[in-house]
Amino acid sequence: MSTSIQKQLDLILADTEKMLSSAKTLADIEGVRVKINGRKGSFTVLSKELGKLTKEERPEAGKALNIAKNKISSLLAEAKEKINAESVAPIRVGEGVDVTLPGRKWPVGKKHPITQTIDDCIDIFRRIGFIVAEGPNIETIYHCFDALNTPEDHPSREPSDTFYFADGRLLRTHTSTVQIRVMETQKPPVRIIAPGPAFRPDTPDASHSANFHQVEGLYIDKDVSLADLKSVLLYFAKELLGDDVQIRFRPHYFPFTEPSIEYDFSCTGCNGKGCRICKYSGWLEISGAGMVDPNVLKNVSYNSEVWSGFAWGMGVERIAMIRYGINDIRYFYDNDVRFLRQF
Ligand code: DAH
Repeated sequence: MSTSIQKQLDLILADTEKMLSSAKTLADIEGVRVKINGRKGSFTVLSKELGKLTKEERPEAGKALNIAKNKISSLLAEAKEKINAESVAPIRVGEGVDVTLPGRKWPVGKKHPITQTIDDCIDIFRRIGFIVAEGPNIETIYHCFDALNTPEDHPSREPSDTFYFADGRLLRTHTSTVQIRVMETQKPPVRIIAPGPAFRPDTPDASHSANFHQVEGLYIDKDVSLADLKSVLLYFAKELLGDDVQIRFRPHYFPFTEPSIEYDFSCTGCNGKGCRICKYSGWLEISGAGMVDPNVLKNVSYNSEVWSGFAWGMGVERIAMIRYGINDIRYFYDNDVRFLRQF
């Protein structure tokens, strides 16, 4: 290679070092960079000489240029780093910064009270052998109504009570759909709970929300009786609210159970004496339950002569409101962290 290129490179490097040694600010360094590497910088101009060399000279000269280029970059980077390090002035006690102040707190999120309540329900039922099952939120009419023995003219099928899609599917109005989903794919015995959302076109008020949550339960085995249902629900109530809680059954009607009941827990806010939480009745309405109707078992091809069982639903918001003493369901969905942080 022409020795002159190497010589010129040495000069450029020396020049760079010299200029950087007197640079005091990042702007000074940028000035050096422009003088060397800028469009008309000494290194840039010299690199263009490469084209004028002979084929034989080119490889070696190219190599030297590359080495010099890297060297220049690292000189610039080092100089920058030095200035940055110097610009962070050491903090001394008594110089306006109180180094004894505690550090900034990192806000830690937590589970929504509805999620917490669902998790607690799962924990309680899991201890007596129930496993969690899931089903889709968008359902067929069959799984939401027909398979659950709901008559064609039942009011719950009306568009005023159910959100329908144009294709005839719907947003499930209850988690009872999961009973069918499970029994369609599994042979008896069955012992599941199905927590999840449900939807109804209700106008929101203190106790209604168009989306809400339920924990469904289904137990299918041989020789199952209403007494078994009662013992499971009583166990749940005690685990959730304490040993003093009592439960009561009231006769009711659901298409998918026979007999059907609604069940209440005694109010733990006032020990049954009557208070704001129980609307002065002493009892808290939880939801419905009953013995699974043989027609439902037939719809999933279970032999109802051999198998029997019970099912229940429970409103998660209702349970959370009781536990935490909340008097308006809408708080759960306002997403106000001042409310959510309390639980
Ligand atoms: N699906 C009912 C509702 O949403 C609740 C219910 C009642 C569920 C009785 C059941 C049951 O499993 O057996 O109101």
